[in-house]
Amino acid sequence: LADVVGADGVVTDGDELAHFGSDRCRGGWPVDPAMIVFARSASHVQGVVRACAAHGVAIVPSGGRTGLSGAATATQGEVVLSLQRMGRVLDIDEVARTLRCEAGTIVQTVQETAASVGLLYPVAFAAQGSAVVGGTIATNAGGLRVVRYGHTRDWVMGLSVVLASGELVELGGQLFKNNTGYDLRQLFIGSEGTLGVIVEATLRLCEPPRGTVSALCAVPDDSTVLAVFTRARRHGLTLQAFECFDRRCLEHVQEHRGRERIGPFSAPSPQHALIEVEVTGYGPDAEDHARDELTTCLASAQDAGEITDAVIAATRQQSVQLWSLREDITESLHRYTPFKSDVALPLARVTAFLEAFRARVAEALPDIETVVFGHVGDGNLHLNILRPEAMELDEFVRRCAGFADEMYAMVRAHGGSISAEHGIGLLKRPYLHYSRSPEEIAMMRAVKRAIDPDGLFNPGKIFEP
Ligand code: MLT
Ligand code: ZN
Repeated sequence: LADVVGADGVVTDGDELAHFGSDRCRGGWPVDPAMIVFARSASHVQGVVRACAAHGVAIVPSGGRTGLSGAATATQGEVVLSLQRMGRVLDIDEVARTLRCEAGTIVQTVQETAASVGLLYPVAFAAQGSAVVGGTIATNAGGLRVVRYGHTRDWVMGLSVVLASGELVELGGQLFKNNTGYDLRQLFIGSEGTLGVIVEATLRLCEPPRGTVSALCAVPDDSTVLAVFTRARRHGLTLQAFECFDRRCLEHVQEHRGRERIGPFSAPSPQHALIEVEVTGYGPDAEDHARDELTTCLASAQDAGEITDAVIAATRQQSVQLWSLREDITESLHRYTPFKSDVALPLARVTAFLEAFRARVAEALPDIETVVFGHVGDGNLHLNILRPEAMELDEFVRRCAGFADEMYAMVRAHGGSISAEHGIGLLKRPYLHYSRSPEEIAMMRAVKRAIDPDGLFNPGKIFEP
């Protein structure tokens, strides 16, 4: 491998092994890579894949390692193949509105490059400053603006992928229309590194909104959040984002920042709705008009008892401050090694599910705190069960796993999915059957066997090898 990537591209010991051997998810499994190999080009990746295939050593493809399901974790002596040193934007086409980049390009770099020519790459999430394009494609990342723009899947025009044979294949590319059989590109999106190594991507870009206006609302309870959402859409507001976070989330951000009080409200609120609306009109008054419409809508929500207070950002800086209350939640919870459940529900079932979930988790894990936040406008809740400081990780994982079957059975009973945007990885593997039928799992296994017959890539992720 040193012959392929150079001696400085191979790490076989030291702290970096554990650091690069795992993503952000700790689930009680070992982190045990044989070595970390840093590729600088597609031909490096091809050489590494061929060498590993020849020696029967499995590969864990790795990007920014911000994943939350353990998919980028080496547990049994695999080679971790990092694409972090492949971070170049290769081309931007302003006519077609596409951007081509290497897989290790940081998502924020893509956003900034698009913005430099007045365009938008709309996939946005808190970890965008570290996450890389290849990883977000492999996991089909969602984020804060799915309600407006959809998932990563909707923004990938083409992929270059290294297969287990070491061949480099092009899947899609510059064509908007290409109706020629199976869409193999889509198969690799969300495949969590189990089918091949994504080395390059062509991404779609779009027109940015003419402006946005954000507001944070104090909401009296879980059951009212979607009433505000419905009202906002009925009012004709174009929502860029509609997020929720409960009182304890805000308090954790507060503790994390070491402050006595954060947030704009004088009294704590059980729930919050963070709303971002798009400026859709033209002219110098367009933003004021959008703010007026949002104000009118929230005033009617207050009259109806759906919110108890609201603050509408008057400046860009105020908007950033409001958003930081939501975006800092994950970081503030990190020290509790949370058991993360990223679930999707039909909008009509979100409230009923939350009520049932809160009641059952309080009974099943009475000594353990659970917080809820998420992209509620698209039905995505992040249920985070927090490890008490005095509890060993093994015991915590065992107890959460004991509850997880019941939790995912509840998700299924409400017509939901056990993973909205974080993927399956190792964390959700035991529960896949709650969201996928035996026939679907058999088809997925057949696809894996067809494309990676020797199980070279990311063994044990999504399903057992
Ligand atoms: C988020 O919405 O903040 C991310 O999905 C990360 C998380 O769930 O912690
Ligand atoms: Zn999320």
